[in-house]
Amino acid sequence: MASAFSTSVLIVLVILPGASNSSSAVDEEEKALLQSHWWSGKNISSRCEWHVIVCNDAGSITNISLSSFHYQSSSPPQFQAMNWTAFPNLVNLYLSQINLSGIIPENIGALTNLTRLEISKNNLTGQLPRSISNLIHLVMLDVSHNGLSGSIPSSLGNLKNLLNLELSLNKLSGSIPSTLGNLSSLNNLQLSYNSLTGEIPKEIGQLNNLVSLYVDGNMLSGPIPLEIGKLKNLTVLNLSYNNLTGLVLPTLGNLTNLKHLDLKRNHLQAPFPIGNLKNLEYLDVSYNKLTGPILSNFASLSSLISLFLSYNQINGFIPQEIGNLKCLTDLYLSNNNLKGTVPSTLQKLTNLEYLDLSVNNLQGSIPLSLYDLTPLRILDLSLNQISGTLNPKIENLKCLSNINLSNNKIFGRIPSEIGNFSWSVRIDFSHNMLSGEIPSNLCNQSYLYLSYNKFSEKAVSEFNSFCGLNGSSSRTNSAKRSMEIFIPITSFFVILMAAWFVSPCVAKKKESEERRVKKGDVFSIWNYDGKIAYEDIIEATEDFDIKYCIGTGAYGSVYRAQLPSGKIIALKRLHQLESLEPSLDRHFQNEVKMLTSVRHRNIVKLYGFCLHNSCKFLVCEYMEKGSLLQVLSNAEEAKEMSWSKRVNIIKGIANALFYMHHDCASTILHRDISSSNILLNSELEAFVSDFGTARILDTNSSNQTLLVGTIGYVAPELAYTLSVTEKCDIYSFGVVTLETIMGRHPGEFISSWQNSCVQNLLLKDILDSRLPLPSFRKDAKDVLLVVTLALSCLHTDPRCRPSMKDVVKEFLVSKPPLMLPFKDISIQQLMNQESIFQK
Ligand SMILES: *[C@@H]1O[C@H](CO)[C@@H](O)[C@H](O)[C@H]1NC(C)=O
Ligand SMILES: *[C@@H]1O[C@H](CO)[C@@H](O)[C@H](O)[C@H]1NC(C)=O
Ligand SMILES: *[C@@H]1O[C@H](CO)[C@@H](O)[C@H](O)[C@H]1NC(C)=O
Ligand SMILES: *[C@@H]1O[C@H](CO)[C@@H](O)[C@H](O)[C@H]1NC(C)=O
Ligand SMILES: *[C@@H]1O[C@H](CO)[C@@H](O)[C@H](O)[C@H]1NC(C)=O
Ligand SMILES: *[C@@H]1O[C@H](CO)[C@@H](O)[C@H](O)[C@H]1NC(C)=O
Ligand SMILES: *[C@@H]1O[C@H](CO)[C@@H](O)[C@H](O)[C@H]1NC(C)=O
Ligand SMILES: *[C@@H]1O[C@H](CO)[C@@H](O)[C@H](O)[C@H]1NC(C)=O
Ligand SMILES: *[C@@H]1O[C@H](CO)[C@@H](O)[C@H](O)[C@H]1NC(C)=O
Ligand SMILES: *[C@@H]1O[C@H](CO)[C@@H](O)[C@H](O)[C@H]1NC(C)=O
Ligand SMILES: *[C@@H]1O[C@H](CO)[C@@H](O)[C@H](O)[C@H]1NC(C)=O
Ligand SMILES: *[C@@H]1O[C@H](CO)[C@@H](O)[C@H](O)[C@H]1NC(C)=O
Repeated sequence: MASAFSTSVLIVLVILPGASNSSSAVDEEEKALLQSHWWSGKNISSRCEWHVIVCNDAGSITNISLSSFHYQSSSPPQFQAMNWTAFPNLVNLYLSQINLSGIIPENIGALTNLTRLEISKNNLTGQLPRSISNLIHLVMLDVSHNGLSGSIPSSLGNLKNLLNLELSLNKLSGSIPSTLGNLSSLNNLQLSYNSLTGEIPKEIGQLNNLVSLYVDGNMLSGPIPLEIGKLKNLTVLNLSYNNLTGLVLPTLGNLTNLKHLDLKRNHLQAPFPIGNLKNLEYLDVSYNKLTGPILSNFASLSSLISLFLSYNQINGFIPQEIGNLKCLTDLYLSNNNLKGTVPSTLQKLTNLEYLDLSVNNLQGSIPLSLYDLTPLRILDLSLNQISGTLNPKIENLKCLSNINLSNNKIFGRIPSEIGNFSWSVRIDFSHNMLSGEIPSNLCNQSYLYLSYNKFSEKAVSEFNSFCGLNGSSSRTNSAKRSMEIFIPITSFFVILMAAWFVSPCVAKKKESEERRVKKGDVFSIWNYDGKIAYEDIIEATEDFDIKYCIGTGAYGSVYRAQLPSGKIIALKRLHQLESLEPSLDRHFQNEVKMLTSVRHRNIVKLYGFCLHNSCKFLVCEYMEKGSLLQVLSNAEEAKEMSWSKRVNIIKGIANALFYMHHDCASTILHRDISSSNILLNSELEAFVSDFGTARILDTNSSNQTLLVGTIGYVAPELAYTLSVTEKCDIYSFGVVTLETIMGRHPGEFISSWQNSCVQNLLLKDILDSRLPLPSFRKDAKDVLLVVTLALSCLHTDPRCRPSMKDVVKEFLVSKPPLMLPFKDISIQQLMNQESIFQK
């Protein structure tokens, strides 16, 4: 009887589906989820409680939001394995970066309530289905970074509500359909890096609300349509890397809101319109066919920060008015036909960091005022007709990383002041007419190109022997003919040794050295100018009296000592008792070996050391502010450390690590990066110290060693593997970076940030509350960048962490403006960065 009753209920349900529509819809959803095998092993019945799924009151799914942080599956999910017909109430479908494969099926067209479809950074192939044009409520359609092919369906023009259309980084071919001009609400159109051909349709000019247009990296041809001049709200226009021809139209000059204009690598011709581009910050027209002179009204582009006009056929003089572009940081005019002199008005460009005027016909001497541009990092005047001599003022260029004056007519001596440049500056003075002595302090430079000048054989051999570049005569001869000097790191030692034996005031110490050597010990104490003596150190610290001790670490104590010359140094001394411990002894020797071979402007300098049974210490550069940890834990000092200072500290650490990972002969791992190992000078610049645990990564031997490092900074994989790679340093760098920005160790945040509640957290809420929120746009962008980088460095899978090369590269790329107010940016958005930056 009872079973008959339930059967009749079932029959009612089947006959009258409308009566309990929602419950059957819910069943269909459950069935579709089960059949997809996306979540095999999970209890599908409880799906509405998962943080990746949102249901409405009837239990029907409205949102699905998955990213690699929530979803890991042994076999990559197939997009079409889900029966999309079963989700009529879905509003929001976000499936980015989860290794989704397969195709976008026609049944996606059943999701008629969908407003956001984001399936970027996956491995989808096939064509965009025509049915996608049924999704008329779509506001956001992002299928970028997949392997989609075929053409862009012209029916996309039906999606009248679209604000964002992102199809970049696929294999789409054919032309841009003119129907896209019907997307009257569109703010952002991104078609970059496909294989699109044909002309840019003039209907694009109907997209009144367009703010950014990216079609870079295609094979588009023909002229830039006149109608683009109507897009009054456009701020970013990127047409680079195409095959566009014709003139750069005057109509572009009407785009008064334009900030970024990139026309690089096309076949465009002059004239370049100045028009009314008052807001233009970034202009790249390099690698085109521009001719004619740079007009003096260029100076009316008063917001310009970056100007790239290299590789054209521009002629005439560089106008004096260029000095009015006060915000300029990058000026690239290389590979043109410019003549005349380097204008002295460049002096007014006080923010200039990159100046490349190479491969032109410039004459005259280098204006003295150029040496006042202290922020300059790259100065390239190579392959011109520049004459005159080098002025000692050249030492003002403290930020240089590359100076190339090769292939000019510069004569006279090299001023010795140039030896004050940082060790890692690339100096190329080859193919000039330089003569006289080669300043001996240039030995410190590791990239020094002086070949094809007029140095005498004597000058060359003196320099070589002084630098320890050994005096066999064949070597000297060849050096004279082609003196590509690449000084090996160890030459530092050689110079110090020379100073040791020459300097009379050290002669006494030599005796005591011999005395000690007789006792069977190695005793040496070396110094940058040969003037630190062992006795001076004992005297200055009253034989290591506790009152001079400024800190104690795991391996020893640090003392501050003022030498008779007034110079202050730090002494790192191994505890007496511990010095008997063989492993610690090894630690100390490692430190010595490493420090002496590493020299970089963000790494603590070693002046000398003493290795002896009863005295084991290093003589290091003294850092006035102590460690990053100390400064962050002091309320007063932390307040002084502004956002830009903090970002600089992070960049400094990154530079030091980059140098150790990529720039040394063999990779050097630090293995113990933490806030107590980052020291700060009075300018709050960062210096990495304590290389004791590092060792040269020998590619032949396994990298399995005992666990070293500081708890809270050690990469998680070291819990189950002892294999140490660069990626462990990268992880620790991520922790220190967050710590610098948050003002405290990010312990809890790290253990929970991949959880969805934390992702909803706003960025502003994790920042060090002792500082006001970044108020300058640059600070905001920088903070955003470093936090984003830090998060990627903290990826649990070491393979997914960036390399230090990637990190340093990110710092160099200028970022487009933010789309959101800084205070509204969430951690979730940082992980999905495109939505914050305009690209
Ligand atoms: C699955 O979840 C449902 C609803 O939350 C619950 O009632 C059921 O007991 C769960 N089943 C298992 C096997 O855990
Ligand atoms: C997909 O779902 C719809 C609606 O729920 C259903 O009618 C259809 O049979 C399902 N298709 C498959 C192949 O399961
Ligand atoms: C879409 O949403 C509306 C209400 O927002 C709802 O009435 C409707 O059933 C949903 N589904 C379809 C297929 O339109
Ligand atoms: C669901 O998606 C809609 C539309 O994108 C969005 O407004 C809403 O915030 C989402 N809800 C949740 C809880 O994620
Ligand atoms: C993605 O899937 C491919 C196999 O198709 C696999 O080799 C790869 O490791 C997966 N990547 C991730 C990040 O899961
Ligand atoms: C993408 O799919 C292709 C073919 O299925 C596969 O060879 C490749 O490894 C996949 N790539 C990723 C990143 O998953
Ligand atoms: C869409 O654009 C095409 C070509 O630009 C035009 O012919 C058509 O009338 C437009 N359709 C609508 C509905 O506006
Ligand atoms: C352009 O931007 C302004 C201000 O942001 C806005 O008011 C306007 O509606 C936008 N569209 C057009 C066509 O000007
Ligand atoms: C670019 O255009 C030129 C002439 O218009 C043509 O010869 C060339 O093949 C084109 N290149 C590409 C990559 O389309
Ligand atoms: C744009 O610029 C051109 C040429 O300078 C000019 O003729 C035109 O009136 C301007 N305005 C619009 C809306 O195109
Ligand atoms: C334009 O696109 C090129 C190539 O993708 C890219 O390198 C450049 O940074 C972009 N420029 C702007 C201003 O977005
Ligand atoms: C200096 O410039 C010349 C010519 O532009 C170039 O060949 C050379 O490689 C550059 N030197 C360095 C060190 O980059």
